[in-house]
Formats: sequence, C-alpha cells, structure tokens
Amino acid sequence: MTAPSSDSLANLERVVEDANTAFGATVSTAELEQAKARFLGKSGVLSELLKGLGRLPADQRPAAGSRINVVKQQVEQALERRRAELSQAALSARLAEEAIDITLPGRQRGGGGIHPVVRTWQRIEEIFASIGFDVADGPEIETDWFNFTALNQPENHPARSMHDTFYVEDGLLLRTHTSPMQVRYARQHTPPIRVIAPGRTYRVDSDATHSPMFHQVEGLWIGEDVSFADLKGVYTDFLRSFFETDRLRVRFRPSFFPFTEPSAEIDMAFDSGPLKGRWLEISGAGQVHPAVIRNFGLDPERWIGFAFGSGLERLTMLRYGIDDLRLFFEGDLRFLRQFSA
Ligand code: DAH
Repeated sequence: MTAPSSDSLANLERVVEDANTAFGATVSTAELEQAKARFLGKSGVLSELLKGLGRLPADQRPAAGSRINVVKQQVEQALERRRAELSQAALSARLAEEAIDITLPGRQRGGGGIHPVVRTWQRIEEIFASIGFDVADGPEIETDWFNFTALNQPENHPARSMHDTFYVEDGLLLRTHTSPMQVRYARQHTPPIRVIAPGRTYRVDSDATHSPMFHQVEGLWIGEDVSFADLKGVYTDFLRSFFETDRLRVRFRPSFFPFTEPSAEIDMAFDSGPLKGRWLEISGAGQVHPAVIRNFGLDPERWIGFAFGSGLERLTMLRYGIDDLRLFFEGDLRFLRQFSA
C-alpha cells in the first residue's frame, strides 16, 4: 500500500465527481449499493486514502485527513441524494402502475328488460283495472270440459277442429284459448261480472304468423242489461288507451264462435301513421251464448253480456310496428334490448 501521493490528494475533487457520475448512472438501490462500495466500502477509494495517511509525514496528516473527510462527506451526501432520487422514482413508478382510473365505467350486470308481450299484458291489465275490471288467472293445463264443452262445443262438435289441440295425459289438454277462464271465473263470482283473463295459450301450429305458444286476453262482462253498444264502447276506449291515440276507428264484422251469438270480429283502423286506413283484425267477440251462461250456473233469461278474446302478440306487433311474430320467441337480445328502457 502506498501513501496517498500528492497526486492522488490533488485528485480528491475528482473523487466527488466520479462518485456523482457513478451514483447517477445507477437505476436501482441495489446498483447504488454496489457503486457505494467502490467509494465508501472497506476497500473503497476513500478507505484506501485514509489508510495511507499514516505514511504521510506527521505535519501533513491533519490537513490531508480533514480534506479526505470533507470529500468523504460530500460522497456520502451524493449517495444520500441519489438514494432519495431512486426511492422517489420507484414510488412514482409504483403509483403510476397501481393507479386506478376512477373515470372508467364499472363492470355492470346486464340489466334485464320486460318482454314486449308482457308489457302489453301489463298495460292491458292497467287499462281494464282502471275501468273496474277484475284480473283473473287460471290453469294452462285445462280439462276438456272447460276448454270446449262448457263453451258450447261438445265432443264431435265441428268447431273443435278449428283448434289443433295439444293433449296431455288423463284427458287433459293445454288450453287452446283463454275462454275457459270465462267459465271458471263466472262459476265462482256473482254477477255483475267484469273481468279480464290474460295468459298463455297453445295450439299445434308453427309458422311465420303462428307460434305453438301464444298469448290471449279474455274479457267478460255479464249484467242484466249489458249490450253490444257497451262492448263497442269499452273495446274502442281500450284500443284508444292502448295505442295512445283517439285517431282510430273500430268496426264489428259478423263472424262465428260457438260460445257467442251473435258473434263478431272486431277490426280497427288507424287514422294516421304507417298503417293508416287499413282495417286490421284485432279480436273475436260476441254476446255470450245462452248455453254458456247456463254453464256459468246463471239463468240466461236474466243475465246477458259479452265476451272478447284478443291476441297479445297481435296487439304488441301493431303497437311497436313489429312485422314478424317469431321475433318474440327467439330471445335475440338485439331485439329485446329495444324494450328494456
Ligand atoms: N277464443 C277465441 C279464439 O281463441 C277468441 C274469442 C272469440 C273469444 C270470441 C271470445 C269471444 O270471448 O267472444 O279464437
């Protein structure tokens, strides 16, 4: 080991510079600790210089010692500065990496919507409830008696073939219309009766305009002096509320149903809009047949009234301008989302 030469002591200022450069070049605390060893470690530059002091003439030692110490302090300060810089940089990097962008939209659950046919169902209930009609519900698996016989279609009646029926075991069937609800409700209530019965109905039928499962709403109004004029008034008011316009007309066309006499088909026409002026079939209706009134358990000499049965899909298609029945049953979210509001 040689004594610090006057040369190396003259270069003391360079040591500070070198340390600054070396520390500044590090990019992590680990690297910085290695660089520190080169200057401040046991065999680092400054230790070596201090060790060499003993070999200097005694009179030069204090001055050289204090110069080396000043330099050592400066190197230590440089080290501290770099340490602070590096830890600040590490902190900033971590904050940037872990930053949460609170402006991003949250992960939401897909909100469901109400199916358009069910919307129609609910609207109809509201409208009829507002004019004093009860809302009734009943079985989709029906007996032959309620679905046909009580409605004036005994076995082998030709009108039965109008309905292609799904039969289930034990002589039960899937109701082909909501009309059996007339009988069920009337047998359990005392007139006057004002009721609607919306629900699912089934027929063996499937194409662009028929679905094996579809929906109807049955209406029944029985009293002592209920007339066709009442039917026309109620049904016209219903359509105007349902379509939210007074600009539509209603007409009755003679028709046939076994459970009504006389029977009518109700047509409506809008006075404006894309369907303007076209007569559209909207419902079957009629004055309840005396044989059916009897099956209600009532005296047809005293009680009289009307019934109607309308398709909910049909009403929904007209209300929303939907032209293909199958859209209701495919579950395509692009279609259904339009009704989710
Ligand atoms: N049930 C009939 C059908 O499904 C519709 C109907 C027609 C119901 C006339 C009625 C009515 O109550 O009076 O085709």
